Amino acid sequence: MTEIRPVKDATPVKTLPDAQTVTEVTHWTDRLFSFRVTRPASLRFRSGEFVMIGLLKDDGKPLLRAYSIASPSWDDELEFYSIKVQDGPLTSRLQHIQPGDQIILRPKPVGTLVHDALLPGNRLWLFSTGTGIAPFASLIRDPQTYEDYDKVILTHTCRDVAELEYGRKLVENVRNDELLRELIGDGLDKLVYYPTTTREESPKMGRITALLSDGTLFKDLGVDDFGAENDRAMVCGSMGLNTDIKVILEGFGLREGANSEPAEYVVEKAFVG
Ligand SMILES: Cc1cc2nc3c(=O)[nH]c(=O)nc-3n(C[C@H](O)[C@H](O)[C@H](O)COP(=O)(O)OP(=O)(O)OC[C@H]3O[C@@H](n4cnc5c(N)ncnc54)[C@H](O)[C@@H]3O)c2cc1C
Ligand SMILES: NC(=O)c1ccc[n+]([C@@H]2O[C@H](COP(=O)([O-])OP(=O)(O)OC[C@H]3O[C@@H](n4cnc5c(N)ncnc54)[C@H](OP(=O)(O)O)[C@@H]3O)[C@@H](O)[C@H]2O)c1
Repeated sequence: MTEIRPVKDATPVKTLPDAQTVTEVTHWTDRLFSFRVTRPASLRFRSGEFVMIGLLKDDGKPLLRAYSIASPSWDDELEFYSIKVQDGPLTSRLQHIQPGDQIILRPKPVGTLVHDALLPGNRLWLFSTGTGIAPFASLIRDPQTYEDYDKVILTHTCRDVAELEYGRKLVENVRNDELLRELIGDGLDKLVYYPTTTREESPKMGRITALLSDGTLFKDLGVDDFGAENDRAMVCGSMGLNTDIKVILEGFGLREGANSEPAEYVVEKAFVG
């Protein structure tokens, strides 16, 4: 069913140079949805980067927010994975988009969750909570990730089981993809998926910070040599997660990197506040 939006909402967007058309929308829970939009022909980005997207306000001015591109850099379209904040200025409206609608996309990708910000290593750990999985949805669909590393471990922690579904499906699709399957290996053991919940019962429970600190994660995965020599990490979650995990990673001797000065781990906020 196509939503008919008031003319004052729909018309001005079409006149914007940065307008892109929505091609697909999937609602995962009452708080989470993903959507795909057309990709500007000129847009080049590195898997893991974010852009500014948004809608026009009633006063005709753009309302933009940072969004990680969840699709890999080779994809013809762009995918985003979004929260729905009921009184959020952008997502209270964005959650109602339908295929055929238009959004604003400023084609200036930036970010630190990129391969260039890490020194070469053997294992890549992608630590995410909530919508923080979005940049990693891009990176685990990028062949370079498997060319650069022997092992890629994606951890995703949410409050409830239903909030893990986007990531579960994503990993399933990567494992079933003909090209990526070749890179991950027949045993599919190059990509390890480690989902956990904190508030609803599931096979693996607990904050990733606790599972890291008490050694559960390493025991579960058979890792006994985590350290700066072999391991590289990318982190994307709330301020709390990011702050706490930095202390843990630095305790293992990893140093924070940046585009200008690559090191052993990088961090980006999944949201502000
Ligand atoms: C670098 C960066 C990348 C981001 N990438 C994404 C992304 O890929 N997907 C996405 O949904 N959001 C992402 N965000 C957050 C996004 O920019 C907006 O904050 C979000 O879309 C809500 O917008 P809003 O105007 O509705 O509410 P806002 O006024 O922006 O936020 C209201 C409150 O909602 C909460 N909130 C906002 N975003 C989230 C979230 N993602 N998860 C949980 N709680 C949240 C916070 O408590 C915030 O104070 C990113 C933010 C940054 C800084
Ligand atoms: N998710 C929901 O069902 C829900 C519903 C209504 C409103 N909200 C609000 O929406 C906002 C964002 O919620 P969210 O669930 O998307 O994100 P979130 O609060 O950041 O939680 C996502 C996951 O990260 C974990 N986490 C939080 N802080 C951590 C830390 N310092 N170290 C390690 N792990 C940490 C949480 O565990 P813990 O469970 O242990 O915190 C949870 O499993 C919050 O303000 C929340 O109050 C959420």
